[in-house]
Amino acid sequence: MENKIINLGIFGFGCVGQGLYEVLNRTKGINARIKKICIKDPNKSRPIDSSYFTTDKNEILEDPTIDVVVELINETEAAFEIVSTALRNGKAVVSASKRMIAENLASLYQLQAENKVPFLYEASSCASIPIIRNLEEYYDNDLLNAVEGICNGSTNYILTKIFEENLSFETALQQAQDLGFAETDPTLDIEGYDPKFKIVILLLHAFGTFVKPEEVFNFGIHHLNDFDIQFAKQRNSTIKLIGHCRRNNGNVFAFVLPHLVKEHNLLYDVYNEYNGILLESAFTDKQFFVGKGAGGTATGSAVLSDISALLYNYRYEYKKIKQNNQPAFTNDVKLKVYLRYKTPDQVDLTEFFSIEEKYESSTWRYVVGSINLQKLKDAAWLKNKDVNLLVLE
Ligand code: HSE
Repeated sequence: MENKIINLGIFGFGCVGQGLYEVLNRTKGINARIKKICIKDPNKSRPIDSSYFTTDKNEILEDPTIDVVVELINETEAAFEIVSTALRNGKAVVSASKRMIAENLASLYQLQAENKVPFLYEASSCASIPIIRNLEEYYDNDLLNAVEGICNGSTNYILTKIFEENLSFETALQQAQDLGFAETDPTLDIEGYDPKFKIVILLLHAFGTFVKPEEVFNFGIHHLNDFDIQFAKQRNSTIKLIGHCRRNNGNVFAFVLPHLVKEHNLLYDVYNEYNGILLESAFTDKQFFVGKGAGGTATGSAVLSDISALLYNYRYEYKKIKQNNQPAFTNDVKLKVYLRYKTPDQVDLTEFFSIEEKYESSTWRYVVGSINLQKLKDAAWLKNKDVNLLVLE
């Protein structure tokens, strides 16, 4: 596509769509222009000329002059339909829909290979941090051991406001929604589903392993209370929601869980809607990527970077899949956790390998001990709002 003007057909004009419009307008030197934007509700007032808009998806999907389909909508099934039709129609696709991508990774991998068209989705994971392209291009070997970090802007914003400004959870969540960081259904953020979708995508690009989101355990910050916050502060620590994937004895495990994070940890200083990803590899030890993980223009800039990469015929090579030595996915790993509850009948402490600290008061109790990740994933008792979990370093 070098030296030609790319015609874009965009699906969705919400927070990210408008962010893309803005960064595209303010970036000189990119040969791309918006030809059509497909939206659901034609009666909604919009900040740009109505001639851009259509409600007919075929005005984009069937238009031979549109080179790139940019999919930025909220509905998972409709997004998959749009992306797969576009790929079948031989169009390059850029998408930011982490849930749709995570749930359909194997099919999308097949579709882009069969149709020999690029499918790029840097904006889907950690927004402005170019982590997928780095995992693809720079870590093109089997020496990567771990990818972990903060990959949800809304929960990091909420936790920052709680710890740094003593705001209530509800006020901080409302602000994250008002600023356009949170998902339409914010339980996806606060219960850790959104970062799990990102971890599933990163896991494929880091290790070549396909994992279904339902195989990965996620537990968010929805049970956090003042007792947990005091527990963290007394230990000169903060709490961060962390996604983690790591090689272990020839396998790879992954999870999204709230962690107690001490001051020496690089993730401690990642605030507000910023995300931070730590990579560990054999020769370089640790490397740290940080950047805005949510918001219209931060995410729009990642979409624009993918569009720009298409001008140079860039596509993911999925080298780690082709290297054919992918680790198998496992939940069989021991974690050290803090488990807070109200009454002993609310938890099953027999599931623990060992308990090294026990606390009881008239209000809350907690234990610190080691437990298997699979046991946590299966534990129905974790659904009780009186029970909370933190991973300890
Ligand atoms: N709701 C997401 C977040 C948006 O807060 O990180 C970016 O993926």
